[in-house]
Amino acid sequence: MSDAESTLITGIGELVSNDGEPSGGQPDSSQPGSFAAMTDAALVIARGKVAWTGPASRAPAADTVVDVAGRAVLPGFADSHAHLVFAGERSAEFAARMAGRPYRAGGILGTVEATRAASDAALRANLRRLAAEMLRQGTTTFECKSGYGLTVPDEARGLALAAEVTPEVTYLGAHVVPPEFAADPAGYVDLVCGPMLDACAPAARWVDVFCEDGAFGADEAATVLAAGQAAGLHARVHANQLGPGPGVRVAAEAGAASADHCTFLTDDDVDTLASTPVVATLLPGVEFSCRQPFPQARRLLDAGAVVALATDCNPGSSFTSSMPFCIALAVREMGMTTEEAVWAATAGGARALRRTDIGHLGVGARADLILLDAPSHTYLAYRPGVPQIAAVWQAGNLVAGTTVNNAA
Ligand code: NIG
Ligand code: FE
Repeated sequence: MSDAESTLITGIGELVSNDGEPSGGQPDSSQPGSFAAMTDAALVIARGKVAWTGPASRAPAADTVVDVAGRAVLPGFADSHAHLVFAGERSAEFAARMAGRPYRAGGILGTVEATRAASDAALRANLRRLAAEMLRQGTTTFECKSGYGLTVPDEARGLALAAEVTPEVTYLGAHVVPPEFAADPAGYVDLVCGPMLDACAPAARWVDVFCEDGAFGADEAATVLAAGQAAGLHARVHANQLGPGPGVRVAAEAGAASADHCTFLTDDDVDTLASTPVVATLLPGVEFSCRQPFPQARRLLDAGAVVALATDCNPGSSFTSSMPFCIALAVREMGMTTEEAVWAATAGGARALRRTDIGHLGVGARADLILLDAPSHTYLAYRPGVPQIAAVWQAGNLVAGTTVNNAA
């Protein structure tokens, strides 16, 4: 489609637009609104953006017309948490967990070793394979962290590779303390906040820290986030994954966009998430793959917190790139309604990335959209594990799948 052309997508059985009235959970009206869906709808794309939405019977003329025959159209998924720059795999660790061994994040160092040893070409090929896998499953925006290099050149390399495939690049030098600093963790924090940050900040938008027993404590995490912010990065935090801890508080005190995992929350943590703009990003693929209790999404939603869903795609704790899978888990295991889960995977992810142009299909939004091979968003949870993403548009371009209706 050239810039001047317009495309009318009509015959939409259900159009999920997320441009409803802002509610308690969305205090800032410059963001995507609440979940909203319209039946028998149409949508016009022009210049890469949504130019019109409304009843199909009132659709304007356009250069190209696509009739999707009663199927559902949704905003593309915004996966706000992923670790895609790595080498190697850890299927044996997964199998051992399923045989009863707990997840302790110790396998991260195995991936660090493999990643350091890998060529740029090998890392790029794996990253691009995963990015393509995400796109086919409807993810039109994804975040990507470093964190498996943990030396200045290896972290800088990871971020440069990530920046080739997404603008949402996150510096995670503070993932774990690497073995060469085992006797000097404070020295590693100095490196992360000094020369490593200097080398990494130009390629990154975000700074992240794994705030957990066995990784970085509250003071260290606050130091890392403050250094990143002083270098112009915005904060996000791995918080409360393996047990209760200070992560959510640290995220709030730093003014982070998002506290991710939130598996073990006290009442105070829930209050904090409900009373600050910090998005609670839940990663149910981790609980599935680590056989942990699922985060209590209902508790967060009922308290008024903004909730996002993301995959945490990584070779250890959650090797899924599938947002539909996460939606199904959130609905079945975390007490979310189908509307809440789809909102969290689209508008919620946009909120966690502080993006206003994605996560909704209001007029002026980027034309990132998914055509489902199903009549409604509910099918994402109702038919778990079934490939239902028929087509994907990014900035108005059809980038995956086909609009041909194979069921017709
Ligand atoms: O988000 N929690 C820390 N980091 C990743 C796990 C990384 C790994 O196991 O390799 C996570 O779960
Ligand atoms: Fe993670």
